[in-house]
Amino acid sequence: MEVVPLADAGEVAALAADVVEAVVRARPDAVLGLATGSTPLPAYGELIRRHRAGAGPSYDSVRCFTLDEYVGLPPGHPESYRATIARELTDPLGIPPERVHGPDPAPDALPTAGARYEEALAAAGGVDVQVLGIGSDGHLAFNEPGSSLASATRIKTLTDETRRDNARFFGAIDEVPRHVLTQGLGTILRARHLLLLATGAGKAAALAAAVEGPLTASCPASVLQLHPHATVLCDAEAAAGLV
Ligand code: F6R
Repeated sequence: MEVVPLADAGEVAALAADVVEAVVRARPDAVLGLATGSTPLPAYGELIRRHRAGAGPSYDSVRCFTLDEYVGLPPGHPESYRATIARELTDPLGIPPERVHGPDPAPDALPTAGARYEEALAAAGGVDVQVLGIGSDGHLAFNEPGSSLASATRIKTLTDETRRDNARFFGAIDEVPRHVLTQGLGTILRARHLLLLATGAGKAAALAAAVEGPLTASCPASVLQLHPHATVLCDAEAAAGLV
């Protein structure tokens, strides 16, 4: 694993944008794996800024897969990850909705949603670069502590800690869904390059456990240790717990 400590979130965003752009330049129909949450937003903003300035690659053939999705929100809810990634990245880059895939949270689709998402990922040829964030409890996508290291896309229950962390997007913890569909840790490990972004003091303990602690389901992000091409970009605050 390559760990790159950087000064601040701006440097993390710039380098993350460089990595994503390099993948798209090398392969115009690249498959991008996209995390939501607040950490990648500066990187997504940087990609959009460069695209608008005419300095980015063409996104005309790129395909995208989100990591996860809430279950139980009304279709089109602004905090659904489908709506979030469209607003924060793919619409501004001109990537049409039919090339942006996510697990299907419709109630009657739930029993088969995980298997169908795995099939769609495989049919696309797998993910070229997977952007990831890390939860303060070490979760990766919505694989909470205790998740199988070999897990596939499936429905999961969020911990109270994650619901509290995400209440800032919803206004109140009661509004945060209890269930999600998430790529499994085994799914994430099949991406060809993992790009974990971590910024802020709130991620220091989780990042230290993921990078320098034991490989364990108690810290799902520690699966990065198993991957042959994993890169961690972190700011000084998030790096504070690293030796
Ligand atoms: C989002 C996701 C989550 C977040 C994590 C960190 O798609 O899968 O694992 O990456 O909860 O969230 P932020 O970046 O908001 O601190």
